[in-house]
Amino acid sequence: MKILVVGGAGYIGSHMVNMLVKSGHDVIVLDNLSTGFRASVKSGRLVVGDLADIHLLENLFQQESFDGVMHFAANSLVGESMTNPSKYYRNNMGNTLNLLDVMVRHDVNHFIFSSTAATFGEPEYSPIDENHPQAPINPYGTSKLMVERVLQDYASAYGLNSVCLRYFNACGADPEGELGECHDPETHLIPLILQAASGRRAFITVFGRDYDTDDGTCIRDYIHINDLCAAHALALELIISGRKRGALAYNLGNGLGFSVQQVIDVVQKVVLEDDCSLLVEDGEPRVGDPAILVADATQAKQVLNWQPEYVDLETIIRHAWAWEKKISL
Ligand code: UFG
Repeated sequence: MKILVVGGAGYIGSHMVNMLVKSGHDVIVLDNLSTGFRASVKSGRLVVGDLADIHLLENLFQQESFDGVMHFAANSLVGESMTNPSKYYRNNMGNTLNLLDVMVRHDVNHFIFSSTAATFGEPEYSPIDENHPQAPINPYGTSKLMVERVLQDYASAYGLNSVCLRYFNACGADPEGELGECHDPETHLIPLILQAASGRRAFITVFGRDYDTDDGTCIRDYIHINDLCAAHALALELIISGRKRGALAYNLGNGLGFSVQQVIDVVQKVVLEDDCSLLVEDGEPRVGDPAILVADATQAKQVLNWQPEYVDLETIIRHAWAWEKKISL
C-alpha cells in the first residue's frame, strides 16, 4: 500500500515510517521539519513542506494515489498551548482541515489520527475508557478533540473512515537502536531522567510529591513507541479492509500506572550497570498535571486485535537508555 505519513520526521512518526517500510509498504513522509529531523527519516521519501501550503498538498495528492494517511504532525506542549493557543488551533486544527479536505477531494478515505489522553481533561475515574467524558483543560487537548469531532462529521458527510488513537505516555525507543526520542526542548519524564543519568542534564526535578498516590508522585501509563506504532498499523488495516467504517476512536496505553518515583527507581537500576547515576531534586507541581492518568485499552485490544509487546517498564527504559547512550556518551 502507498501511505502518506504526515509528521514522519518526528519521534512517533519516524518509528511508524520504519515499521511500515519494514512491512513492505510504500511510504511518503510529509514534514516541515519544525520539530522533526531529516536524519530521523531512515526510509521512505521525504517531502519537506507544511500543511498550511494547500498548493503543495494539492500537487502531492495529484501526483500520488494514497491508500491511507497517518497524521502525526502537531504541536504538543501543554504549557505552550496555554500561552499561545493561536499556534495550537491553527496548526493542530486548521492545518489538519487542509489535509482532510485534500483527502476528500482526491477520494482518499482512510485516516489515522494522533489524539491524546489530554482530550479527557481531569479524570473522573481510572482507568480511563472511551466512554469517559472528554473535557480538555488546555488548548492542546481542545485542538485534538476538535479534530476528533470534525472526523465524525467528515465520516457522515464524506464517507471518510478514520481512527483516532488517544495516546497516554508514549516512550521508549526502537529496540534495534536505529531511532529514539529527540525533542527540543525535551519535556518528557523518561528522556529527561536519562539525560540526567548520561550527564547531559545536571539533575531531574520531581514535579510534586503531595499527590494523592501511594508515594505522592504522579502516576502515568507508559506505552512503548513500537507498541503504539503497531496499533496504528492495525487501525489502518481495520478501515482499509472495510471491517469497520466511520469515525472510530481508541485509547492506547498498557493499563498499568507507574509513579514518577517508580520510573526514577527503574532508571537508577538500569544506568548503574553502566556506572551512571543521577541527581534528583524536588520541585513544585506542574500546573494542570492530574495525579493519575491510566488507560483502559480493552477496546483497542479487542477491536484492533492489538497486543502490546513491551509492557515491562524496565524493558521500555532499557531501549530508551540504549538510545540515550548512543547519542550522548
Ligand atoms: N515530570 C516530572 N519532572 C519532569 C517532567 C515530568 O516530575 O521534569 C512528571 C510530570 O509531572 C508527570 C510525569 O512526569 O507527572 C509525566 O510527564 P510527561 O511530561 O512526560 O508527560 P505528561 O503525562 O505530562 O504528558 C503526556 C503527553 C502529552 C499529553 C499529556 C496528557 O506527553 O502530550 O500526557 O495529559 F498532553
